[in-house]
Order: sequence, then structure tokens, then C-alpha cells
Amino acid sequence: MDYLTANRAQLLDELTALQQEYKRYQQMGLKLDMSRGKPSPEQLDLSMELLDIHVYKGETGIDARNYGVLEGMPEARRLFAALMGIAPDEVIVGGNASLQMMYYLVELGYRNGYANSPCPWKECERVKFLCPVPGYDRHFRITEYFGFELVSVPMTPTGPDMDIVEKLVAEDDSIKGIWCVPMYSNPEGVSYSDETVRRFARMKTKAPDFKIFWDNAYCVHHITDTPDILLNLMDECRAAGTEDRPFMFCSTSKITFSGAGVAAIGASAFNVKYILKNMFPMTISFDKINQLRHAAFFENRAGIEQHMEKHKALLRPKFEMVDSVLRSDAAPYGDIAHWRMPNGGYFICLRTLPGCAKRIVDLCDKAGVKMTEAGATHPYGIDPNDNTIRIAPSFPPVEELRTATQLLCLCLRIASVEHQLENM
Ligand SMILES: Cc1ncc(COP(=O)(O)O)c(C=O)c1O
Repeated sequence: MDYLTANRAQLLDELTALQQEYKRYQQMGLKLDMSRGKPSPEQLDLSMELLDIHVYKGETGIDARNYGVLEGMPEARRLFAALMGIAPDEVIVGGNASLQMMYYLVELGYRNGYANSPCPWKECERVKFLCPVPGYDRHFRITEYFGFELVSVPMTPTGPDMDIVEKLVAEDDSIKGIWCVPMYSNPEGVSYSDETVRRFARMKTKAPDFKIFWDNAYCVHHITDTPDILLNLMDECRAAGTEDRPFMFCSTSKITFSGAGVAAIGASAFNVKYILKNMFPMTISFDKINQLRHAAFFENRAGIEQHMEKHKALLRPKFEMVDSVLRSDAAPYGDIAHWRMPNGGYFICLRTLPGCAKRIVDLCDKAGVKMTEAGATHPYGIDPNDNTIRIAPSFPPVEELRTATQLLCLCLRIASVEHQLENM
């Protein structure tokens, strides 16, 4: 039945049948979680050898057990440089979380400003940040925490709408930055086109200290054999003379251990110097033993890529399962759901009829399946169309994922029928 063309009587009959099926799910006592993009235990097991690596002496004789070397062990800087496509002296290797490094740099701009800031951002009358939507809730949360105004910019199939970005940043010097997940974006799995990357490098910004927070969290996280390819932002910025504009980030959170990996910042050598000078009062050094372990475990970028093939083998069937259940259990009922199978990353983004996402997530919750809160993909947790749901297939086993997605489709159908009945 096509819900968009069905008449009232048909929809009422359908709703009764769906509600009965929903009750059956409620009686199953499910307790499933598709809410956070966490690696599964099997994925974490892939890196257990890390714990057997007992290294503490670096290649240049640095004793990693001791204080010092704030910028990170040379071999770890080299590894992350290869991952980000920049030079080792453009890398600071930190602790376990790239999010912490993003927070640190936002805080640095706020408290102190950057080397090319006219003043610390806290002294500006207002500070705005561009937030491509849908996007990553934790990014938005950082800038919301500092009291910045979050300005939504729509995502397109090639990245943020660059006509809007260019216009805004050219006109308004209170816009100090933008959050970007340029490869396999969270949650849509979109990778930015070459044109988008070039426009980011070349665009004119009214704020001299405008920064691109380039969070390449999923740079090697392919799940198909036709991976996306991302142009190197730093190369383009160098060519355009804007190499101090990007702050790049990545981590091994979804390569080794999400709670005990290694994270890094990539920035121009000039910015690296400035950041290190300002980090100095905060810590004497990060966990260099873990940095060495990771460098020894992977050796180089090829080592990471080989390792990611094992993640791919575990993740791909899960994404395919979600895709196939959506095809069989949602697609036949008319134009009530849109999604696309990404080539990588950690999420599938489901678009519903307007005003249905919250209702669907709530229905799932009441039947024992936890989804990411509706609205989390938008600044301030408000999705104006209430039609975006982030599906995180990585954690549950495949069979649980089937059941959870089947329930999600049932809830989607209930909410869609209710929507049609209300709008007749
Ligand atoms: C886009 C993005 N960036 C960063 C993170 C977190 O990274 P980390 O564990 O390095 O803090 C996530 C986790 O889901 C993410 O989706």
C-alpha cells in the first residue's frame, strides 16, 4: 500500500494492524541499542595485540615513560602525518580523544584568540559558528557550551552548501569557524567534492581568524570496495595562501580502541608552534607510550589500511542488513523514507515525512530499541522539520540489528500513517 495515496479507511485499517504488530514487539522485552556509533566488541578485539607491545624507547632515544615531548613521539607524528596528508612538523599527537583537542582549540580561540586574531573571541560582542546540518551533536555541543551562536548550513550531496557558506563568511566577521566532517560525514556519509574543498581553501572570509575545524574522523573508514576520495585541504590551502585556516583532526578511536586510542591535530607549522606554546601550561606531555604502541602496531599508513579491511569485513554486513530491511520493510509503502547506503563511516541517515522523527524514536524506545535522540543532528537539538534519524549499525550483532531495524520500520510506518491521517 502506498500511504501517500491511500484513503482514510485504508489508513485506519492499516494503523490497527500495525498497532497489533507493535504490541507483539513490546511483549518481546527487547533491549537493543542503535544510538551511538560505537565499535562492536569484535572490532575492539582486532587490536588486542596492542596491549602486548612493550615499547618505551623511541627511535631517537626518547624515553616515553618520562615527561616531555609535548608535540608527540616522532614516529607517531609521522604516522598521523601520513594519515592526514601533511608534514610531521604539522602534527601534534595528543591523548585518546580528538574531541578533547577540538574543545581545546575552540577554548583557545575563546580565551586567548589565535595568532592572527584581532582579540580573544570572548571579547567579541558575538561569535557565530557555521554548523552543516545534519551534523555531529558533539561538535555543536562544544560551540554551544561557549555561548556561540550556531548557524545551520544545509548539507548537499557534495558537502555543505558552499554558496551559502561563502556568502556568510564574506559578509560577517563574527563568524569565526565551521564544523566539517569532510569524509563519510556524520550522519549522512557524504564526502566533500573536490570543488567544495577548493572553495573552502579559496573563499574570502571577513574574520581574519576564521578557522575550519576539519574533523577527518572517518578518513580510512571505508565499508565498500568503491571508497570515496577526498582532496587534501592543506594542499589546497597552501596553494591559496590560507594554510593557517584549517585545524585538522583525526584519531584511532575507530581504528583501535575508542576509549584508549590516540588523537592528533594537523595544522600549519606556524599554528602548531602557537598551539604548543599555549598548551605548555596545561600538560607536560600526553601518553607517549600509547603513541609508540600505535606506531609500532601499524608502522605506516599501509598498516592502518590493512587493519581497516578487517573492520570493513565486520561492518559491511551490518550496513547491508540495515539497507536491506529498509528496502523490504519501508520502501514498499510509498515515499515515506529516504536514505542512502554510504561508502564508509559509521552511520545511515534516515529521512522521514516531516514531523515524524521524534514520534518514531519514541515508539522505538517504548518497544526496547534505543535510537539517537531525534534532533541530535541539528544545533540546539532542534530539527526544524523533525524528519532526521541517525542509525548507528556498528555495535549490535547482525541478527539483533535485523530485529531493531524491523521495529524501526514498523514505527516509521505507524508514524507515517498517523501523519497522513492528521493531514487529510
Ligand atoms: C565526526 C566525529 N568526530 C569525532 C568523534 C569522536 O572522536 P574521538 O573519539 O577521537 O574523540 C566522533 C565519534 O563518533 C565522530 O563521529
